[in-house]
Formats: sequence, structure tokens, C-alpha cells
Amino acid sequence: MAHGMLDLPADELDALFARREARVAVVGFGYIGVVIGAVLADRGWQVTGIDVRPEVVGEITRGTTRVREPGLDDLVARNVGAGRLTATTDFAAVAQQDVVIVTVGTPLGQDYEPVVDDIEAAAKGVAAFLTRGQLVVLKSTVPPNTTTGLVQPILETSGLRAGVDFGLAFCPERLAEGRAVRDLTSIPVVVGGVDARSADVCQRLWREALGVESVVVDSPREAELTKLADNLWIDLNIALANELAKICDKLGSNVTQVIDAANTLPKVNYNVNILMPSMGVGGYCLTKDPWFVHHLGEQLGLDMLTPQTSRAVNDTMPAYTCELLREQLALGGKELKDSRVAVLGIAFKNNTGDCRLTPTRDVVRMLEESGCTLLVHDPWVGPEEALTVTTVPLTATLDDTIRDADAVVYLTGHQQFRDYPMTRVAELTAQDCVVLDGRNAFQRSDVESAGLRYKGIGR
Ligand SMILES: NC(=O)c1ccc[n+]([C@@H]2O[C@H](COP(=O)([O-])OP(=O)(O)OC[C@H]3O[C@@H](n4cnc5c(N)ncnc54)[C@H](O)[C@@H]3O)[C@@H](O)[C@H]2O)c1
Repeated sequence: MAHGMLDLPADELDALFARREARVAVVGFGYIGVVIGAVLADRGWQVTGIDVRPEVVGEITRGTTRVREPGLDDLVARNVGAGRLTATTDFAAVAQQDVVIVTVGTPLGQDYEPVVDDIEAAAKGVAAFLTRGQLVVLKSTVPPNTTTGLVQPILETSGLRAGVDFGLAFCPERLAEGRAVRDLTSIPVVVGGVDARSADVCQRLWREALGVESVVVDSPREAELTKLADNLWIDLNIALANELAKICDKLGSNVTQVIDAANTLPKVNYNVNILMPSMGVGGYCLTKDPWFVHHLGEQLGLDMLTPQTSRAVNDTMPAYTCELLREQLALGGKELKDSRVAVLGIAFKNNTGDCRLTPTRDVVRMLEESGCTLLVHDPWVGPEEALTVTTVPLTATLDDTIRDADAVVYLTGHQQFRDYPMTRVAELTAQDCVVLDGRNAFQRSDVESAGLRYKGIGR
């Protein structure tokens, strides 16, 4: 049974958390949900994942997950084995919990508007079994006012009142895929509660559950906006880096040196912090969250230019990358259509198997259309997921992918690729092979000293 923990005095609540006696449900056991659930279970909490997809529940029950993240397989297997992590499709499990964390998806609609249907359905599922004293935490990325304007009224159909009978807060998830497990236990959590008690319980929970401090803001709306601000900043910042890279390519300069030097300038409390350029920006968050801001602006009668700009600039990078490849091959007297091209990495970023909205798809499509002989390898991506990116079946080994290649195109900087010696790349590839470093993951000197031609993005 739930502990009615919202009614507990602070010291008893801390003691309950310290003894790991509070039970946690995570509603929406996708990328974010599984990571949160597995990490909490590994830190001693009893966690139940609730998802509408029976196949996801089946995997967890067998101690596996389709989510590819460093360290996650072990966490899931170990904690399912220990009985701390379970999963179900049945929302009735909500009644047994103290904390209910909602992590369902919030995709973009046809007109680039946020779709919150899954939030609504999940809230209804939770409302049916909501119990006095529980804390509900929404973590999905949502437009402002979703917590109080959509989720709260649905939860209150239970007859319980938010901030009185149950706690409610919005705490955006800010982890990055590829280092999700580490991020979850190191990044401060932003907390926007519907009342002071909800925020206070969240703060105590995150301190004990994840070992991180909270940044408490005035209301859920500030927390909802914080997430959008973070992701707009990242997308816009990378767009700036990408345009600097294009300038550096024209001038024959090194963008990494420029950015590293620029970033030594103190500005108010922090240094300038320009991020690194790359062959494209993709994934489930940065491709949609700037549009959430744009859509919000439209609703408020504002013509927001920054989200459109960041998206437009970053969307140019796959074609730009293909053009760099064409140019580099031409320098060696080769044409793309007659070349053998090895693509390494099709996930949307380094050290993940997530191919949702990946910019690599555009590069691969352009290469497929170019008539070149294309080989593709990604040790993080399974054959089914790979089909969402390319019609070319994945080549199983890195050696077989790059053998006799005229160009090796790194679209991700997976650790396996960084660990693979450039001398070996040179041994296996064709004469005058181009290394196109789409993530600026390698040192030019290492590549050139192995006898290969190097080109990065902006260097
Ligand atoms: N992926 C990331 O790196 C990341 C990072 C930060 C924040 N976010 C945000 O977190 C949220 C989840 O993202 P994700 O990548 O985990 O999405 P996802 O699609 O991988 O997972 C969502 C899960 O929710 C389940 N679901 C859908 N409707 C449901 C319902 N009514 N009840 C129960 N389960 C339901 C789906 O079956 C799926 O397993 C999004 O709002 C996203 O913007 C994602």
C-alpha cells in the first residue's frame, strides 16, 4: 500500500526515503522511462514500469531492454533479477505506489505542433487509481501550462485535489542519450510544484533517490519553460558552431581552434561556451523542442525567429557533409558515383542506438542516390532499427565495412570507432582514402600520419 507520504513530517519522509520504502511507478517505459526506472531500482528502490506496449513489458520481465545505452543492459538484468524492477500494462499498479513518474512521449504533429495525446491518456490511467498522499511527477517535455492545465484537471477527476490530497510537480528530464545513466545521477533536477509541499517532497526525493540537488522554480510553468530554454539554447548554439564551421571551411581555418579559443572569454558568470559543429543535429528532442517554442510564440502572437533559424541551419548539415565528401574525393581524382563509401555510425549521436529523427538518414539517402557503392556499419543499431535509416543491410564488422573503401565517413563518433587504430583503417582501405570526420572525433595528425586524407566539419 502507498504510505500517504505527503502527510508525513519531513524527518519521517527523509527516513522513509533513506530506507527505500517508498515505491515508484514510471509510466511510459521508453528511452527515458527505462533509464530512470533501472537507475532508481539499482539504487535500491522498488520500481514498476507501466507501458501500453506489451512487448516492452515482456522485454523487461525477461530482464532485457531494446533501449541501447552504455551500462543499461546490466542495470536492467541485475535489477529485474533482484526483483526490484518489474513492468506491467496494468495501471491498477498505480494504487500501490508512493511516487508516479510520467515519461510518455510528446511528438510533433503535422504542423510542427506538440502532440500531448499520450500525456492525456497516461494522466487518465493514473487518475483512475490515484490515492491520497501520492506524488505525481511529470517528466515528459511539454508546452507550458500542460501540468496545471491538462494533467491536473484529469488527475482531479479522481475527486482528490492537487496540492492538498496528492502532490504534483513538473520536473523536466534533462539527461542526454549516450550518457543517460551518468547524467541522471549528476545533473540537478529542476522542480516546479503546484504547491510548496509538492516541491519540497520532490527535492527530498531527488536528493535521496538520485543523489542530486534540485533547482526549485516558482511553478510547473517555469519548469516546463526551462526544458524548452535548454534545448533551444543547445540547438541554436550548435547552429552557430555549424555556420562558423562553414566559414572555416571556406577560409581553410580550423573551427575547433577558433571555438576553443573563443570559449576562454569570461562573460558575466560563465565563459562563452560555443558547442562543436557536426554533420547534423537529430534525435527525439532537439528536432522538436525548438518547434514547441515556435508554436508557443505563435499562440502568444509572437514571431519567434530563433527556433526556425536553428532548425533551418542544422538541417543544412547533412547535404553540406555530402558536398564535403564529393570535394574531398575530387581532390584525389575520384567521383562519388564511382567510389566505394563506408559509413560508420547511423544512430543520431555517439554511443547510442537511437535512430529516431537522425540526421544520418539524410546523408545515407544522398549517398544511396549518388550511385556510389555503399557499406554501412553501426555496432549500436539492430537490423530492424537500421531499416528506418537505410535500405543497405548493415555490414557486421568494421573491417569488412571499410575494406577497399575510397572514403570512410564517420557519422557518429562511437567509442568503438575511436578505439579502432587509424593505421588499421589505412591498411584496409583503398589508395588515397578520405576520412570524413562528421563528428570531429579524430585528430587530423593521427589520420594523416596513417597516410589517409582528413576532412572534418570546419577543419
Ligand atoms: N529521449 C531523450 O533523450 C529525452 C531526453 C529528455 C527528455 N525527453 C522527453 O521525455 C519524453 C519521453 O521520451 P522517450 O524518448 O522516452 O520516448 P519513447 O517514445 O521512447 O517512450 C515513451 C513510452 O511511453 C509509452 N506510452 C505511450 N502512451 C502511453 C500511455 N498512455 N501510458 C503508458 N505508456 C505510454 C510508449 O509505449 C513508450 O514506450 C518525451 O517527452 C521527450 O521529449 C526525452
